[in-house]
Amino acid sequence: MSAIQPPASRVWWRQPLDRMEIVWIVLALIWCLVMFFMMPYWHVFGKQNLANEAYQTTPEAYLRKAQEVVDKYTVRKETEQQIPVVRPPAGSDVYLVARLWQWWPILELEAGKSYRVHLMSTDWLHGFSLQPENINIEVHPGYDHVITVTPTRPGTFSIICNEYCGINHHTMTSKLYVK
Ligand code: CUA
Repeated sequence: MSAIQPPASRVWWRQPLDRMEIVWIVLALIWCLVMFFMMPYWHVFGKQNLANEAYQTTPEAYLRKAQEVVDKYTVRKETEQQIPVVRPPAGSDVYLVARLWQWWPILELEAGKSYRVHLMSTDWLHGFSLQPENINIEVHPGYDHVITVTPTRPGTFSIICNEYCGINHHTMTSKLYVK
């Protein structure tokens, strides 16, 4: 039988299910349910799935807030592009801007202190990926994502963009300092 010719038995869907087939369907269904309930379980007990809030906003409004924090708490500038390094007070709102093709500014946080980190793209979709912790968050234009973070150990972490965003996607990297 080929796909061009009509099937030999035209009412093929009324044939009884093979035992093996029904076993596989039941197994697949059970696994689907396991995976489904893993989502809320992992959200509560796992350490990687972050709870976040999201608010609709505009690039102008978001950049204004980011600029305010940069004006207040910049401690130095780094890289060829003179990106400000911001050391905000513990517990404050910190803004990270994703855009073609940079993360702005660079954040310097204190271990053991909590911050409300805001993330937004001012052009199109980027992916925030913190390495080597492997924390990944999609960064959408028009939405301010807020994540409450408490860095647990000092170090210099890498931020990369893990959502293809154009010709210089591979250069969209930055750092996160934890002191
Ligand atoms: Cu931004 Cu890839």
